[in-house]
Amino acid sequence: QRLLEDETERIHLCLGCRNMQRAEGARSALLHSHPSAQVDVLQVDTSSTTSVLRAAHEFRLRYNRLDYLYLNAGIMPNPQFDVKAFFRGLLSGQVISMLATGVGILTQKDSVTPDGFQEVFSTNLFGHFLLFRELEQVLCKGGLRSQLIWTSSSNAHRSAFSLQDVQHREGSQPYSSSKYASDLLSLALNTHYNQQGLYSSVTCPGFVMTNLTYRVFPLFPAFFWTLLMPVFWLIRLFTNTFTLTPYNGAESLFWLFKQKPESLDPYCKYHSLTSGLGNTYTEARKMDVDLNTSEALYEALLQLERDVRKKLEDQQKTYQSPKLWDNLEQSHTTA
Ligand SMILES: NC(=O)c1ccc[n+]([C@@H]2O[C@H](COP(=O)([O-])OP(=O)(O)OC[C@H]3O[C@@H](n4cnc5c(N)ncnc54)[C@H](OP(=O)(O)O)[C@@H]3O)[C@@H](O)[C@H]2O)c1
Repeated sequence: QRLLEDETERIHLCLGCRNMQRAEGARSALLHSHPSAQVDVLQVDTSSTTSVLRAAHEFRLRYNRLDYLYLNAGIMPNPQFDVKAFFRGLLSGQVISMLATGVGILTQKDSVTPDGFQEVFSTNLFGHFLLFRELEQVLCKGGLRSQLIWTSSSNAHRSAFSLQDVQHREGSQPYSSSKYASDLLSLALNTHYNQQGLYSSVTCPGFVMTNLTYRVFPLFPAFFWTLLMPVFWLIRLFTNTFTLTPYNGAESLFWLFKQKPESLDPYCKYHSLTSGLGNTYTEARKMDVDLNTSEALYEALLQLERDVRKKLEDQQKTYQSPKLWDNLEQSHTTA
């Protein structure tokens, strides 16, 4: 919506979504407000390696160029609210930070995908990485620069991440771990790809009322959140991270679209912020990341990518099935 408001005529949008019904709903809403816009949908489930490979293949068949790749899909499954930690936090000096990021008070129960990956890691990080790798050939086309824009979080904490357990199989904060990993990965991608004209940035949308937030308290009825809004507006007088609406939360994602990518700092996260008076703006804040750890994570992800490709090749040999994209190409020709 923010992009179309700015550049309806020049933009060709492709919405990558797992649920086609919701995707079509989003597309219709965008076309309703911007009838001349070009908006397509593409099915992709970032938690599934075959879905990502299929989607990337379909994308390459449909389009020959990609300038901006927004890596936004994210989950925080089965969030558990730690009441004791909450009350301890209230008495500490970290109340605002705790309320704004959920640090220390939110844990999650992760699961394993049919591919054998931790679901949060796969959905929030690895699926995006694989998608990017598969789309490399359509990025930076014709000597133009391209941008990757990750939706990270202020909840990305070094303490939740371990190089020995990049998928966070052992811990109870897979969300924080996956977001910290996206901060690290963005730095590594800048190191490896800037020379080719590809730039990567991370954003935090702030605290936004979305399905992800509602699921933290699934028993609360919808009207309860509406009742809470005046409280949130009050809190906003003390912390500008309470952006509250998706429109405000998208501020930094839109802001990045307008920047010269080479002017951006690879060590910064770009935060969407909203002042007490409701004005939105973007602020760059240094991330707690270092080159060595980012390189080590990048290598680990490349290794996982090799493993995925090898497994798929072996499966195709065993079942003598055509490559999954051969099927896709046939259906395209027929269509
Ligand atoms: N809300 C906040 O306060 C907040 C704060 C910091 C960061 N974030 C980040 O902001 C991003 C957007 O989240 P949100 O707050 O807008 O939550 P949301 O309303 O739950 O949106 C998440 C989106 O990701 C999609 N998605 C989830 N799993 C997917 C998968 N496997 N494949 C493809 N798409 C998938 C969802 O698709 P469906 O429509 O099919 O469910 C949905 O459109 C996330 O990365 C989140 O971590 C949010």
